[in-house]
Amino acid sequence: MKTNSSHSLLTVPTGPLKILELPPNSVGISSESIHLSLVIPTYKERDNIKNVVSILSQLLDESIPGNYELIVVDDDSPDRTWEIAQSLLTEYPQLRVMRRQQERGLSSAVIRGWQAATGSVLGVIDGDLQHPPEVLTQLLRSVDEGADLAVASRHVDGGGVSSWSIVRRVLSRGAQMLGLVILPGVLGRVSDPMSGYFMVRRSAIANATLNPVGYKILLEVIGRGKVDQVAEVGYVFCERKEGESKVTWKQYIDYIHHLVRLRLSTGQVGRLSRKVNFPVRRFLRFGLVGFSGVFVDMAVLYLLSDPTTLAWPVTPSKIIAGEIAILNNFFWNDAWTFADVSARQQQWQQRLKRFVKFNAICLAGLVLNVLILNLVLNFIIPNRYIANFIAIAVVTIWNFWINLKLSWRVTDVK
Ligand code: GDD
Ligand code: MN
Repeated sequence: MKTNSSHSLLTVPTGPLKILELPPNSVGISSESIHLSLVIPTYKERDNIKNVVSILSQLLDESIPGNYELIVVDDDSPDRTWEIAQSLLTEYPQLRVMRRQQERGLSSAVIRGWQAATGSVLGVIDGDLQHPPEVLTQLLRSVDEGADLAVASRHVDGGGVSSWSIVRRVLSRGAQMLGLVILPGVLGRVSDPMSGYFMVRRSAIANATLNPVGYKILLEVIGRGKVDQVAEVGYVFCERKEGESKVTWKQYIDYIHHLVRLRLSTGQVGRLSRKVNFPVRRFLRFGLVGFSGVFVDMAVLYLLSDPTTLAWPVTPSKIIAGEIAILNNFFWNDAWTFADVSARQQQWQQRLKRFVKFNAICLAGLVLNVLILNLVLNFIIPNRYIANFIAIAVVTIWNFWINLKLSWRVTDVK
């Protein structure tokens, strides 16, 4: 890689998170590709980094001398972990250091590191010594013996967690169970899908565009890669001695988001969406938002018109309830369903314009709703609930399609 002087940092790759089939041209160092590239993602690990680098180097110098590289990918840690790593470069010739300033996040850090890597086997290990380094040799052996992916697992023979509270154990297993329900084809393949300690053959993930959120990069590798043979090696997740974990409740949200995204893009929905060229994912979101609007509408109607609350007349109450539901739906569609589009048009005038259009389209949808209900009821199916259901379904598609074309279309892009 680009390491002209031994003190310089690796250039941070940009563009899509995609690993090349062949390692990037190695300038300066041997033109041969090396065997193992091990990424160490770090964020605020100043008290661990020196130790980690020294222990890993010693271990790999024994098993595959000169045939590996350690790549520290630091997200511009405020404790200047990257600077300490950089100061180790002269002492450890197999060490590379990347300092990321534009992007953040564990999973993308790992992928950026792999993009800069020259190895034919790509690995990752935490930078806080919670992953026992000795396991590295077993992981590597598994890959050498034919595995496409070798995962260090807490849930096979020889594995475990040191002294986790019952709460943490339950949370961890609960997350795994939820994952099994949402994505059985991915989570079901390994006993510890949450592991952040594994090695994968470059060829198994080359050319797949990885798109992870949050912490769990392994899900992405299994979900989007071409992984046939999987090996697992037991390990005990040690306690942290220095620094602290970066896991917060946000990682749980990210995890669920990640599961759903993988499910939608790799499963049947994803295939369907590509085949019929209809934005299925957006439509599902739009539908979900619409569904939430029903509850908002009901709640406001209750608050305003129920005899036990304000007891207003039903018509003005319903108009207000409907309008608040429309506001609710607009908010979520703008922030979620069409987030990519609205991110490019953030001025409040542009938002207001979208809102007015959305409102008008929803009102037209209401008229359409009444029309279809009557048509179906009088000429096709003489059951008002089935007729209403059909009317709602048609209007949802109408609302979605027209809003897609008119409200959230990309205009005046610079
Ligand atoms: N570059 C970068 N950017 N590194 C990060 C970031 C980030 O935003 N967040 C965390 N890291 C680094 C930490 O410095 C550490 O080296 C490693 O990623 C794991 O982070 P911890 O905060 O220590 O996570 P943990 O101890 O809860 O470990 C859990 O997640 C790991 C990673 O998936 C466990 O599930 C492990 O099994 C798993 O390996
Ligand atoms: Mn940790």
